[in-house]
Amino acid sequence: MSDKRQIFSDIVKQRRSVRGFKKEVVDRSIIESVFQNAQHAPSNCNTQPWQVVIASGAKCDELREKFTTGFLEGQFNLDFPYDGQYAGVYKDRQYDAANQLYSAQGIAREDKQRRNEVFMRNFVFFDAPHVAFFFLPEPFGLREAADLGMYAQSVMLSLVAHGLASCPQTALSMNADMLRDALGVPETDKVLFGLSFGYEDEDHPANKCRVGRAELKDVVRIVE
Ligand SMILES: Cc1cc2nc3c(=O)[nH]c(=O)nc-3n(C[C@H](O)[C@H](O)[C@H](O)COP(=O)(O)O)c2cc1C
Repeated sequence: MSDKRQIFSDIVKQRRSVRGFKKEVVDRSIIESVFQNAQHAPSNCNTQPWQVVIASGAKCDELREKFTTGFLEGQFNLDFPYDGQYAGVYKDRQYDAANQLYSAQGIAREDKQRRNEVFMRNFVFFDAPHVAFFFLPEPFGLREAADLGMYAQSVMLSLVAHGLASCPQTALSMNADMLRDALGVPETDKVLFGLSFGYEDEDHPANKCRVGRAELKDVVRIVE
């Protein structure tokens, strides 16, 4: 295999959702280098329909507190609907991923309290020192949301190339009004998800989780 193929294959396979981070902060120059790479992501008509806010330090701590108390107080407002009604093979994959995550941490599926504790870790960014929020400006819709997804995957792969790890989180879009207010983001920018990132805590049990993938033949057809 050529060097480039090997390097890409290693990076794309190394990326996974990490749910336990060291507290060590990432140098600003490294963060800028990561996001500079992602600027090369493609988009419809090169519109580059993404606005990103990265929170660190005191702002990160403020958000941890606001997300946690907001959720416990029942604050729930999403810019984009999410009903999580998966069926068939999609439901099977969802169950499998959740089971892998719980069993890596020694949690039984029926142990609701500990499962809830695992969910609440979303709101403290799994202890990551940095969190990025991905906003889609109005009036963009589904098509441009796909652009934002490509941009975010570029960020995640770039993080791996820089020796860093991340976790994309829909959970961080569940209190959109609070978030905009805390970050000084205009009402017209709609949040799709957040991304906790930093250096992986390799000893955290959640990071033993490895979810599988469908076989190529089940998702890709080559026709002639
Ligand atoms: C847009 C998006 C939102 C996600 N939201 C969450 C989330 O809120 N909390 C979480 O722990 N994982 C979240 N995940 C991570 C997925 O569970 C994970 O990507 C999937 O199980 C595949 O595992 P892997 O990323 O380790 O390969 C999200 C992933 C994506 C792409």
